[in-house]
Amino acid sequence: MNAVYDITDISLEDEGRRKIEWVSHKMPVLNKLCDRFQGDGVFRGKTVAVSIHLEAKTAYLCLILKKLGAEVWATGSNPFSTKDDVCATLAKDGVNVFAHHGVSAEDHRKELGSLLKSYPQAVLDDGADICMAMHDFPEYGERLNGFSEETTTGVLRLRQLESTGKLLFPAVTVNNAKSKHLFDNRYGTGQSTWTAVTHLTNLTIGGKKVVILGYGWVGRGVATVAQGMGAHIIITELDPWKALEAHMDGYEVMPLADAVRCGDIFITATGLEGVLRTEHLVAMKSGALIGNAGHSDLEIDVPALRKMSQSVKEVRENVYEYRFPNDRSIYLLADGRIVNIAGGLGHPAEILDMSFSLQLASLHFLLRTPKRKPGVYEVPKEIDELVVRQKLIAEGIEIDRK
Ligand code: NAI
Repeated sequence: MNAVYDITDISLEDEGRRKIEWVSHKMPVLNKLCDRFQGDGVFRGKTVAVSIHLEAKTAYLCLILKKLGAEVWATGSNPFSTKDDVCATLAKDGVNVFAHHGVSAEDHRKELGSLLKSYPQAVLDDGADICMAMHDFPEYGERLNGFSEETTTGVLRLRQLESTGKLLFPAVTVNNAKSKHLFDNRYGTGQSTWTAVTHLTNLTIGGKKVVILGYGWVGRGVATVAQGMGAHIIITELDPWKALEAHMDGYEVMPLADAVRCGDIFITATGLEGVLRTEHLVAMKSGALIGNAGHSDLEIDVPALRKMSQSVKEVRENVYEYRFPNDRSIYLLADGRIVNIAGGLGHPAEILDMSFSLQLASLHFLLRTPKRKPGVYEVPKEIDELVVRQKLIAEGIEIDRK
């Protein structure tokens, strides 16, 4: 059966295929799991919906699900991370795709709606977008065995629904598996954030005062890589343990009100909304660069920045100069969206090899076991361990056993 799709340009297929082909060789654990699940038929004929940053690595995961016999319905999870060329390849290869680079919020809601209407049996979600939509239209969840959630912000949303008794479906928290957040959130975001910042600005990181808001898994990775590039790191935190940990790791720790006066580059990594606000923006040095590595587009108060500014100009692709009436300027990267993906290439393929192996195994787990009660569930330990051990094998590393 031909796929149904609504994408920007099907003729971009060849470029998308080149990108997917490249990453397919860098994801050995995912390939191994695909071989392992090939014979058991768990995915055969099942409808799987996927809402995630639609670029080459995720596209490859969609094709693996298709290869295993699933009917796959895919959309993006951020308008600027969607790559139109890989969407074209997916559509050509039989995945039902509804995604456009730069889509408006309203049209993205329609794209999510198209996925709901497939009555999915399992959902791969990023930031709980489909999950929230499904709670508005629970009738589309009648066949659903559960969600498999990719990121910290999505897990927070699920827990919020659960704690208020409103969660209607089971959800597995891939983000919380050790093989995910220890590597993806930390090393993946660490490297790809700075790849994106240097690509967007063509400026040095060495010698700069880099202020990182939030010293969780993402903040730690962003700090480690910036330090390796010669930056002077300043951490702001609310959690006293995390703050002390940053101090013991050798970084300067201070309140944001002090950090805004001396920072050259600011990266938000809290997962929460409105952490960098008017009172901070107004106190920054002229020429400061600000970007966000968290899932939410709302960590930096961009509407407030716009209100304070006399003019806004795109001075390089995806770099916006906000000029204040007193002739000072601040540069916003990727419009305050998740900078490593909306302004860059996303995580390295070897990192997503682990995250997406967990996703594949979690979807397999949801589909092969009896439907659970609504609730938030951890990834089974044996899946987490299987993924990390396969990764060690793929890297040619042996370790001792008890
Ligand atoms: P986390 O929960 O480990 O860390 C967040 C940290 O921010 C906590 O230590 C918290 O105390 C701190 N925090 C909260 N409010 C703060 C404030 N106002 N000022 C300073 N610190 C504050 O979460 P994690 O895993 O580090 O994720 C952070 C965000 O990054 C989430 O939105 C997550 O979904 C997203 N993420 C992004 C990725 C990417 O590719 N860019 C990859 C993985 C996660």
